[in-house]
Amino acid sequence: MQSDRRIVNLALIGFMGTGKTSVGRHVAEHLGFEFLDTDELIQSHTGRTIADIFAKDGEPAFRELERKVVQELSTREKTLISTGGGLPTNEENLEALKSFALVICLWASPEKIWERVKNQSHRPLLHDADPQKKIRELLAAREPFYKQADVLINTDLRSVREAAQQVTLQYKLATRQKR
Ligand code: S3P
Repeated sequence: MQSDRRIVNLALIGFMGTGKTSVGRHVAEHLGFEFLDTDELIQSHTGRTIADIFAKDGEPAFRELERKVVQELSTREKTLISTGGGLPTNEENLEALKSFALVICLWASPEKIWERVKNQSHRPLLHDADPQKKIRELLAAREPFYKQADVLINTDLRSVREAAQQVTLQYKLATRQKR
């Protein structure tokens, strides 16, 4: 690991529906960390929903809000940061996250993702004529970014509790190695 890294937080990256929020909440509770979600931060800063920002201002404006939120998080400690699925596609965000957090990617197959998100309606990118195809395409395009995480955890066959245990273990190992 790079020596200029300060691993004092945990960041979860990964596609929509991989369990970042549910797993993240478990891990935060277990480690005594504060839980923060970049989508929630954007919504509270702007007073608007993510869907409204996408619809009225477009995706690039949303990505800029994400970038600003990541910069704001750099002074934090003992925080579990759950990130929006597209956030790590900006290399600057990944680099910033790595400077102050262990970055763990939660992975899942397109089939599993679809199973988990199909009854939810709040994600503008999945408002598509063929959402399953959209998931496959986006996941393939984003894979190179997700794979830059420090650790990749497949959640296909893991319960939220099991995935949370893995994340916690990896954080403990990474921080012990540093000392
Ligand atoms: C997005 C994922 C969403 C949210 C926005 C865009 C994406 O977050 O940031 O709808 O580009 O994958 P979740 O991954 O928490 O659903």
